[in-house]
Amino acid sequence: MSTVESEADASRLAWRSLWSSLAPIGRDPASGGYVRLSWSPADLAARDWFVTQAEARGLAVETDRNGNLWAWWGDPASGGAVVTGSHLDSVPHGGAFDGALGVVSALLAVDALRSRAVTPQRPVGIVVFTEEEGSRFGVACLGSRLLTGAVDPERARALTDATGTTLAQALAAAGLDPASIGPEPDRLARIGSFVELHIEQGRGLAQPVGVASGIWPHGRWRLQFTGEGNHAGTTLMADRRDPMLTAAFAVLAANKEARLLGGHATVGRLSVHPNATNAVPETVTAWLDARAAEQSTLDTLVANVRRRVAERAERDGTTVEVAVESVSPAVAFDAALRDRLVATLGPDTPVLGTAAGHDAGVLATAGVPAAMLFVRNPTGVSHSPAEHVTDDDCVAGVAALARVLEDLAC
Ligand code: GLV
Ligand code: MN
Ligand code: MN
Repeated sequence: MSTVESEADASRLAWRSLWSSLAPIGRDPASGGYVRLSWSPADLAARDWFVTQAEARGLAVETDRNGNLWAWWGDPASGGAVVTGSHLDSVPHGGAFDGALGVVSALLAVDALRSRAVTPQRPVGIVVFTEEEGSRFGVACLGSRLLTGAVDPERARALTDATGTTLAQALAAAGLDPASIGPEPDRLARIGSFVELHIEQGRGLAQPVGVASGIWPHGRWRLQFTGEGNHAGTTLMADRRDPMLTAAFAVLAANKEARLLGGHATVGRLSVHPNATNAVPETVTAWLDARAAEQSTLDTLVANVRRRVAERAERDGTTVEVAVESVSPAVAFDAALRDRLVATLGPDTPVLGTAAGHDAGVLATAGVPAAMLFVRNPTGVSHSPAEHVTDDDCVAGVAALARVLEDLAC
């Protein structure tokens, strides 16, 4: 076997070994997907896994005031740090790679640099952001938003999950002080550059690794429809004030507006009260996720849906209240950093945008030079148990990240 072949085998083995140690955590055997909602037992186990792995590498681990985990190779106080990482929480029954790929790759990239005896001139950090998906408390990228000051701590503390537990309660239960969450400008100022490696979440990448150009503006809106709860058998059709009808109209209107405007709109979550087969519901809550290439298109899409749904509610005898859960502006990643990544990885490296949100986007919006590496997704499926990346592409991602970190830190 040639040296090149044995190195490739070693990289695959290292990948498999570390990946397998995380893989069982939070995996639902019934769906085959991952349920790692932030601060849940599965999320805590994944965080413990990270701390164990980082400490085994002699990295200094700290938890910031917002619950994000940082592992340092070198002293972060010296500034200009090169930071990588991603998140370990998941959407309900999500895929194995979304977020986790970036964290596992970061640890292996550090291993790769060390095995080549690379000595960074700048501190290298690995971060695990908390509640990136917003699957428990509704606000996407909550950990990085708190860190950068993009969400008001008072509002964040009061966010509730599906059972009514507040973020403040969840943080306190995990041993954090909810009173101290909020912006950490000093911590941000230490970051010279942030590079997040992530599975590409569409069918945009035909090569193993690409570089991100930017992120579509996007957001989440909670629509609460209220009517009159009543008996499904005895209530005349003409007498009904059924919020399910208004909600159903909203789903169709969002789909139509997105198609007309070239945006994306999804209603992927519903809550019905009292949720009984033989009762006209009293309330229906629907969550609208909307995205578009341009902010003006997104604004028009959401405004059109709101207008048409309000008209429909009048006809149904229902009411609709709309609350903004989180919005993210368009992101154009730092051009100089993006070009540097392409120069490091080779001029044929594809540069592509995405409609998926990321902590790197939040950091970029806060003025941190940020970039992303995408790893090929052979089916384009994500936020689903079917999400997949081949071992060879995972290994290629680690190698690319290691080269980028070496270039930036040395
Ligand atoms: C995060 O994955 C998002 O785009 O919602
Ligand atoms: Mn995701
Ligand atoms: Mn993600």
